[in-house]
Amino acid sequence: MDAASPTPTDNQSSAPAVSIGAEWWRSAVIYQIYPRSFADANGDGIGDLPGITSRLDSLQHLGIDAIWLSPFMTSPQRDAGYDVADYCDVDPLFGTLADFDAMTAAAHARGIRVIVDLVPNHSSSDHRWFQEALAAAPGSPERARYLFRDGKGEHGEIAPNNWESVFGGPAWTRITEADGTPGQWYLHIFDSSQPDFDWTNEWVREQFRGILRFWLDRGVDGFRVDVAHGMIKADGLPDYTPPAAGGSMGGAAPAIGAEGAAGTAAAAAASSTETIIGASSSTPPVGLEPEIDAGWPESAPYWGQDGVHEIYRDWHEVLAAYPGDRVLCAEAWVEPLEKMALWVRPDEMQQAFNFPYLETPWNAAALRPVINESIRAFAAVGAPSTWVLSNHDVVRHASRLALTAENPQGHGIGPKSPGKPDRAVGLRRARAASSVMLALPGGAYVYQGEELGLPEVIDLPDDARQDPTWFRTNHERYGRDGCRVPIPWEAGHPAYGFNTTGASWLPQPDDWNDYSRDAQAGIAGSTLELYRTLLTARKQHGLGLGSVTWLDGVPETVLAFTNRGTTGAVTVLANTGSEPVEVPAPLLDTHVLQASGPFDGTTIDADTTVWFEASDR
Ligand code: NOJ
Ligand code: CA
Repeated sequence: MDAASPTPTDNQSSAPAVSIGAEWWRSAVIYQIYPRSFADANGDGIGDLPGITSRLDSLQHLGIDAIWLSPFMTSPQRDAGYDVADYCDVDPLFGTLADFDAMTAAAHARGIRVIVDLVPNHSSSDHRWFQEALAAAPGSPERARYLFRDGKGEHGEIAPNNWESVFGGPAWTRITEADGTPGQWYLHIFDSSQPDFDWTNEWVREQFRGILRFWLDRGVDGFRVDVAHGMIKADGLPDYTPPAAGGSMGGAAPAIGAEGAAGTAAAAAASSTETIIGASSSTPPVGLEPEIDAGWPESAPYWGQDGVHEIYRDWHEVLAAYPGDRVLCAEAWVEPLEKMALWVRPDEMQQAFNFPYLETPWNAAALRPVINESIRAFAAVGAPSTWVLSNHDVVRHASRLALTAENPQGHGIGPKSPGKPDRAVGLRRARAASSVMLALPGGAYVYQGEELGLPEVIDLPDDARQDPTWFRTNHERYGRDGCRVPIPWEAGHPAYGFNTTGASWLPQPDDWNDYSRDAQAGIAGSTLELYRTLLTARKQHGLGLGSVTWLDGVPETVLAFTNRGTTGAVTVLANTGSEPVEVPAPLLDTHVLQASGPFDGTTIDADTTVWFEASDR
């Protein structure tokens, strides 16, 4: 091979010699439905369960394996349903339990599994358990369900510690006792309407075992576990001041467009991880499991505490009593990846969202070590890596990857934000980035609308915004509404076919006709067809259970690897740079499976990813 040829960096012999489990979630593509914004059957402007049922054919056609639904349980909706007032019922906004059963049956009939959101860190303050706690006396068993504490100062007028809410402002609220006097304080890591449970209390644990069984009995295939890294707080609730640059839910500073802070740390790791290895296994290789607190950066006293693991071991047992590979997927904003991998040890959860990957900028030098480390760290505990680029808490990647100013997770972008993204650049990068993500082995998450190339909605009117972040920061942070706008189905229809009335809980932009599903279906080159082709090829080649080998001898702006799947192999070249690059000679006559942008067969343009059929299986 000449110098310009890609050469495999291949020391796969160091891969753990273990068998690969074939459970569905090891390779699944899971589609996140944000129920308020997916499809609205009754036309009140808020998406609902019958709406989801009516659109399942589109998801089957897209080729995903499972859906995960953000919360639809009874809730006053102060945090869009992440404030649950009854864990075992459907909020009338979204329908009924019968609607849920019908939706689940319809999904299963199409071969689509169903994952529901579980919110165990906190309930709504409207929950009967919290109302009973308010009515009971300090020190009572009812108060012990939550984290009530006496205040400091002569009259208890100072909050028990200095913690700040993720949404801004203090994490403590003082109550008025039943006799009308100023009373104790309760902890809420999120909004004041979301009191945190005390998970050291066995009573709380028992309630949640019952909640898991309630949904498992209804046939759900698993749970996405909200704030899975936050349920246990450090003993004594010590004061803590978070670093200024971090994301609001823990984790690192976020990516900026194609450069980004994350690039520096990731690049530093690059030299030590030249090759990787393959597919995850069901048996952890002995001796590779990381030791707890292996020199990792100090966690906030409310994130990533070791005590969470015994809760997940307990839940693992609850799920294991049911047939059919039910799953727990952790929302755990912890770093490094090796620490996150503790959440998916063989007796804990099955998956954890790979937020370090999400936070990596569109930059080959930064992406390669993160991908390497992800596969290595998760394989070391016998779990698959996961990959995710967007969800309902982050700026959509069709905008985020073109930001030119720092934008910490949860802050959002709005009319006055610096470094606003160029829409064409963002879409080009998003299509290229998704083409990388869907070529990787393990589980992948797709957030509703990304298959349409939807951008973040930046210019929502101030009076339309609903995220508590917007209110708790006195409008300093825009929050997450921009990624939650109801998605377009049919061009030229009221609310773009989200419903038939035109109502929409967040206003949709005027220029979304071209993003609508029907405007893209069957149109060569559309983002929808790109996703469909990638998902089909991913399945045909068995890439979800494959293994990655890096190809060297390409420009440093190019990410180049082969994924050898169980039934085929694909070589991926992603040009993250700003200049076109030549296709290396050995690939010139290779069959092209898909390109994320225009491709003439010889030159890969900036921000473009190409999948080649690989023959060297
Ligand atoms: C994480 C969820 O994804 C987010 O939307 C929510 O606001 C917080 N957890 C609190 O439940
Ligand atoms: Ca509705």
